[in-house]
Amino acid sequence: MNRFTSARPASATVVASNVERRVLALLARMTLDQKIGQMTQPERLHVTPAQVKRHHIGSVLSGGGSCPGDNRPADWVAMNDAYWAASMEEDADHLAIPILYGVDAIHGNANVRGATVFPHNIGLGAARDPGLVERIGRATAREVRAAGVDWTFAPTLAVAGDPRWGRTYESYSEDPRLVGGYAGRIVRGLQEGGVVACAKHWVGDGGTRGGVDQGDTVVDEAELRRVHIAPYVPALETGALTVMVSLSSWNGEQCHAHRYLIRDVLKGEMGFGGFVLSDWNGVDPLADDFGEAAAAAVNAGIDMVMVPERWREFIAGLRAQVERGVVPVGRIDDAVARILRVKVASGLFERARPAERRGSNGVGFGSHEHRAVAREAVRKSLVLLRNEGAVLPLDKGARVLVTGPAAHDRGRQCGGFTVEWQGVTGNEAIVGGTSIWEGIRAVAPGAVLWGGGARAAEPSDAREFDAAVVVIGERPYAEGMGDIRELGPVRPGTNHLPAGPGVLRPYGRTLELASLHPEAVRTVRGLAERGIPVVTVLVSGRPLVADAEMAASSAFVAAWLPGSEGAGVADVLFGDHDFVGRLPMGWPGGGDDVLFPRGYGLQLPGSEV
Ligand code: BGC
Repeated sequence: MNRFTSARPASATVVASNVERRVLALLARMTLDQKIGQMTQPERLHVTPAQVKRHHIGSVLSGGGSCPGDNRPADWVAMNDAYWAASMEEDADHLAIPILYGVDAIHGNANVRGATVFPHNIGLGAARDPGLVERIGRATAREVRAAGVDWTFAPTLAVAGDPRWGRTYESYSEDPRLVGGYAGRIVRGLQEGGVVACAKHWVGDGGTRGGVDQGDTVVDEAELRRVHIAPYVPALETGALTVMVSLSSWNGEQCHAHRYLIRDVLKGEMGFGGFVLSDWNGVDPLADDFGEAAAAAVNAGIDMVMVPERWREFIAGLRAQVERGVVPVGRIDDAVARILRVKVASGLFERARPAERRGSNGVGFGSHEHRAVAREAVRKSLVLLRNEGAVLPLDKGARVLVTGPAAHDRGRQCGGFTVEWQGVTGNEAIVGGTSIWEGIRAVAPGAVLWGGGARAAEPSDAREFDAAVVVIGERPYAEGMGDIRELGPVRPGTNHLPAGPGVLRPYGRTLELASLHPEAVRTVRGLAERGIPVVTVLVSGRPLVADAEMAASSAFVAAWLPGSEGAGVADVLFGDHDFVGRLPMGWPGGGDDVLFPRGYGLQLPGSEV
């Protein structure tokens, strides 16, 4: 897959020149309509296979939660088969160029029912294990191919500087060295696993003022390079074939029209030879006239445009701009050559139709093997922040009360970008895996679930229970809907939801858990007051101000968004494994203090230091 930067330079040159020859031969046969079609990426709900052929469409995507049929791998394979077959018909008006279908497999192929859902990136940042990240990439690639798909919009290489950002959980860390240390490994895992990777979002997405999604990153160039550009270096060196542009701005200039960042820095200075994709409706705000907006994006260096619905307008608008000479034909040729290069270099032309591929039809999908990797990732991602009186590890024979809104809720564990764009709550939609409660029940026969219809009576006191595990935290969210900021709509039109009054709201106005979810501290205090030692497990996409909850708890564990394998939590709470997770970003306390610095994390008593 990684033929641009092979370890054997001599043969790499031969391979690269073979790729170039094929690309140029194909390009020479293409009409302007065919070229613009390759540059166009509609969303599946808005384009049929027949239209893919008629308009020479080069790529189709699934927006978060946009799933065919019953949302099983077989439904995805059938859909991809139909698009692929349309793209491969060859006749007088149409060239056979395989479609490249893209999905957000950002923590496993988690849009699909029954997938293995890995912890979101913030938890992997806590694990400090690049080898694990590469294995997750490989397993994810296998589950993506099982659905007949060839491309994922991952990894996110954002360096999240402010936990108020709704996408903090998509970032491995606030530390660019940690993000950079993972970047090459995740790209290698995905691409050697047979799926094209997409490093995103170029660039500065995690550095916006106030953590506002799609906001403005106000830093000088040295800082932009040191913090936000740096992690892309190992990703490109490992051969990441595509890059997605950020919906944010740099010092007031939108990245989608930023010629310097895309053409000069990424493609010029850094030598990126793959193609650059715009983000969801990222072109729309660049100009009032859609054709002019398209021209601005393409002239800035964007090669493929994610136009979920307005793809016909894009095709007509870009064509007009080329005819007017606003967009040079040379730029179009460069964009299409890059797209074809990725399709050739990734082996797409050699692949059989999706239904006939060895890796498709559900092979490896949601397998025990992948779930074991995910469970390992869960236990390595947990960060122990407090353990008064050595309440942890719990004894497997102990009478443990398990409660809290996230105790038995696989949807909440998985967070956003799982089945739905904004994620789901409850257990039904997450097929396979274990809730945190199910994991505890499996190792501790004396454990009892309170709440969720499991036990009606309130627990009395410490004579009845040796300890309580209270699982609290955030509800699932994605993107701007996860922001913490003053009320007000997220910038409309750049989201997956229809814009409308009151629809696009941030998660809350403060990082203080007691204010976001006051029920949590009540539960923790109520049990602690009865003399029951409380182990609080926080399920959240970011560090939260949890002073009150911590003060009332004997032990406190940051579990991030662990995904489908909740059993990894019991592995550590009951001492089968030690805590190895370290904070990937500083943990805030009341006021403006940092309560625990990045790198903090306790181990079980008696462990080697
Ligand atoms: C997000 C991208 C994602 C795309 C496609 C956008 O809203 O910003 O990260 O890949 O949607 O779902």
